[in-house]
Amino acid sequence: MSRLEGKVAAVTGGANGLGEAIALRLGEEGAAVALLDRDEQRGREVAGQLQQRGIRAIFVMADVTREDQVQAALDQAAAELGGLHVLVNNAGIEGANKPTHELPLQEWERVMAVNVTGVFLCTKHAIPHLRAVGGGSIVNISSIYGIVGGGDVPPYHAAKGAVRTMSKNDALTYAPDRIRVNSLHPGFIFTAMVKRHAQQSGLPEEAVRQHLDSLHPLGGTGTPDDIAWGVVYLASDQARWVTGSELVIDGGYTA
Ligand code: NAI
Repeated sequence: MSRLEGKVAAVTGGANGLGEAIALRLGEEGAAVALLDRDEQRGREVAGQLQQRGIRAIFVMADVTREDQVQAALDQAAAELGGLHVLVNNAGIEGANKPTHELPLQEWERVMAVNVTGVFLCTKHAIPHLRAVGGGSIVNISSIYGIVGGGDVPPYHAAKGAVRTMSKNDALTYAPDRIRVNSLHPGFIFTAMVKRHAQQSGLPEEAVRQHLDSLHPLGGTGTPDDIAWGVVYLASDQARWVTGSELVIDGGYTA
């Protein structure tokens, strides 16, 4: 199927993990895809791999915490690929695993800058492009940690909760422009981010993996593709009447 034929999508954090899988699935559904990331080497590799599969894809270097870079990257994506219809705010970091009373302010601000300010800046500078094409879809990657606590990573929880409610507010603001805004809440997927999080626990990776597996009633952790298919749905016209919603893809973690 080609549910996204003629659409242009920008995926932040598209060089690795969930973003890479999301970019591939959007591209396979017919979208042209711009990967925005600060990891230039991997971003160029992934864009090349998408091109080899016949997908119109470009890599644009951008740190989502830098307004000048975000605006320039989205303008470039729209100019090169022919407008912008879909923004996936996926770039994120996990931050230090420390309780609130031990957390340095600098670490709090580092996580909020990427996970909240980054979503704000990308949304801010995508809106004029989405309006210009008569509407579109913004998918904000939050987390199960935007819904329930985990007893760890305080700024990550705060940030993902913020992303959840930012999505609802923007959904109301931009509904008259036919711009839909939804949040997506993944359970654990064993990407580089979760591997780093596991390392902070000091336990062997296999032990962490088994623990995480046990937290999801359907068993195991998810795959990047489990999330990518949710993004394809929210980006597509099949979700034309879906805005301000929370799509939870978590193997039952939050049930
Ligand atoms: P990852 O660490 O594998 O990939 C994150 C990507 O974001 C990398 O390519 C990185 O270079 C990029 N990035 C980080 N900071 C950036 C910045 N300032 N500017 C531009 N790019 C930046 O992480 P993963 O697991 O793929 O996570 C993707 C999103 O999914 C994140 O928002 C994360 O919080 C969320 N998520 C992940 C879960 C998981 O279990 N892996 C579960 C729930 C949510």
